[in-house]
Amino acid sequence: MLDYPEEYRDGYVIFMGQRFITDKRALIPRLETEELVKYCLKLLEKNPHIQTIADIGTGSGIIPISLFSKAGRPLTVFATDMSQEALDLAKENLQKMKNDEWRMTNEGIFFLQGDLLQPLIRALQNFTPEEILITANLPYVREVEINLWLIHEPRMAFLGGVQTGFELYERFFDQLLAWKERPKKTHIVIEFWLWQRDIAETVFQKHGLQYSFFADLRGIERFAYIC
Ligand SMILES: C[S@@+](CC[C@H](N)C(=O)[O-])C[C@H]1O[C@@H](n2cnc3c(N)ncnc32)[C@H](O)[C@@H]1O
Repeated sequence: MLDYPEEYRDGYVIFMGQRFITDKRALIPRLETEELVKYCLKLLEKNPHIQTIADIGTGSGIIPISLFSKAGRPLTVFATDMSQEALDLAKENLQKMKNDEWRMTNEGIFFLQGDLLQPLIRALQNFTPEEILITANLPYVREVEINLWLIHEPRMAFLGGVQTGFELYERFFDQLLAWKERPKKTHIVIEFWLWQRDIAETVFQKHGLQYSFFADLRGIERFAYIC
């Protein structure tokens, strides 16, 4: 049996140079997700018209809080999760950063509970930005693999589906394409599992999406940019 994770015992992790509270309410942030954040920071730099970002399946909030604090310009930020417990943790992380590190009080992130893009679509009903960046590190593990490793972290943070583990992302893209009023320019950056690149490519091609892949530090293509 896997040992109780050190990160839960310590109660924090360092991600993108900042200290985040971590506990059993959400997935322990993984180092490789820093590559997604770094890519998004460059994307924001190259696209000054992006003023709205949304992170889907935010867990402890590492992605939106890192982007919010490091983008170097004001952004309207949404963070969604199916798990209210994870959102509570993400809110605590935002509050902690404001109190301890940033010493700022006014700006915030809108935390929304619900399934994938649905709470974002509802929130943007009366205000659709021209351009948006959507990030997602959704669960991508297959059910059969879960019992091998998943002992201490929430099951909801891992389970991507039964066949490929990419099923939740497939629903994400179905919701995106059914969103009639979506921003004219929608940039999406996602993280998935080691061997899901070709499955992801099939889904993107099926929907006629433009995409490119980028690699983690070991050179494995497990991130995609879709526009
Ligand atoms: C792999 S964890 C990633 C957490 C965080 N983004 C990170 O990188 O550390 C996936 C997150 O998606 C959430 N989630 C699972 N199913 C969801 C759904 N249908 N809609 C929204 N969020 C979901 C889980 O609760 C979990 O917090």
